[in-house]
This record gives sequence, C-alpha cells and structure tokens, in this order.
Amino acid sequence: MIFKQFFDKESSTYTYLVGSESNRDALIIDSVLENVKEYINFIRSNNLNLLYVLDTHIHADHISGMSTLNEHFDCEMLMGKETLAEGLSRKLGHNEEFHLGDLTVRTLFTPGHTSDSYCFLIADKLFTGDTLLIGDTGRTDFQNGNSISAYNSLFNILLKLPDTTIVCPGHDYNGQCRSTIGEEKKSNPRLQVNSQKEYVYIMKNLNLSNPKKMDVSISRNLKLGKE
Ligand SMILES: [Fe+2]
Repeated sequence: MIFKQFFDKESSTYTYLVGSESNRDALIIDSVLENVKEYINFIRSNNLNLLYVLDTHIHADHISGMSTLNEHFDCEMLMGKETLAEGLSRKLGHNEEFHLGDLTVRTLFTPGHTSDSYCFLIADKLFTGDTLLIGDTGRTDFQNGNSISAYNSLFNILLKLPDTTIVCPGHDYNGQCRSTIGEEKKSNPRLQVNSQKEYVYIMKNLNLSNPKKMDVSISRNLKLGKE
C-alpha cells in the first residue's frame, strides 16, 4: 500500500493519500483546500492516478479540497448517503466495498460526531475522521451530532474491529499520528465508560467553543469546497 499522511497546521487536520502498488490508483481522504498543491505534487512525483476523493463528513473547521482535486484529476467525489452535501459523483452506504487496484475500501457508517460521519477501512488501516481520535472522540454538540449514536458507532462498530487495526484519525492536536484499536480501547479516556449513559453524560458536559471558521467551512463544504 502506498500511504501518505499530510498535516494541516491551521486546523490540525490529517489528510490521507492511499494508493495501490499494483496499478498506482489512489484516493485521498479528508483533503484541505489550502494544501491541494502539496497533494498534486505528491501525486505527480509518485506517478499516481487519483481516482477518488472522499470526505468522512461535512467538516466544520476547514474547507474541503474535493472540488479542486476533481477539477485537476476528474476524480470521483464520494461521501456517505446521509450527507447534505450537493454535487457528489456518488453516495456511499454502510458496509459497501469498492476497489482501488489490489486494495479493497470498506465503508462504515458511524454517525454521532455528525449525522453523516463515515469511517473507511483499507486493509489494516481505519480512517476514522472525527469519530475516533487518539485519546479522544469527536464532539457531538453540533451538525446533528448525537452522543447516543456516537456511543453505538464506537462500541458496536469500531471497537469490534481487531485490536491490531491501525487508527488513522482526522485530527490530532498533540502531534500523535496513529494508534491502534487495541491501544484506544485500553487508554482512550473517553472509552473507559461502563455504559451508554455515562458516555452521554461526559459528552454533554464538555462545554467546547465552536471552531473558528465554522460557518464558512460548513457552507462551503455543503458545496464540496466550491465558492
Ligand atoms: Fe468534524
């Protein structure tokens, strides 16, 4: 697998490029508009064919690079079918599979952080968006977030994957770049709860401020980053 993790300093977003060694087909998950040039340079210098751009959900803290990448490479723009974003090439459902050379991409509908959140599993790597972060989980207090759904997505879907599954989060604010399901089960403070009720209580009392670019990000991302 060709694998590259990009980091956006302003929003602490991780963007991932995954490619197949067999035919150089590639996809990008959670691109950031301001960093599109960096992705293009990587794609060109590694002779990759960008077939897909995916967003795990409508982001509230940065503008997606999906439309700009689509203009450059004519790649398909994909999100889950629950999204309110318009202009996608195709919408994905839960537990669908599609191929990228010799790799299989599996979709997991994991609502909670937002009502349109998906995770993507490719071989041993799980791209969790904001559903599961390293030592943390995505907030559930806007964009139709729901802490009961988040609990179900975490405990009944993601934590049921093998402990060795590598967690590739959508953000990190402390310089950590990857983890595993086993590690998160053991040490993620948000996951050390005994019940759904306890999780809901924690999420209800976080009292977080809204992201800086929230309004402009959401309105642009509903158009896949277009102005
Ligand atoms: Fe998010």
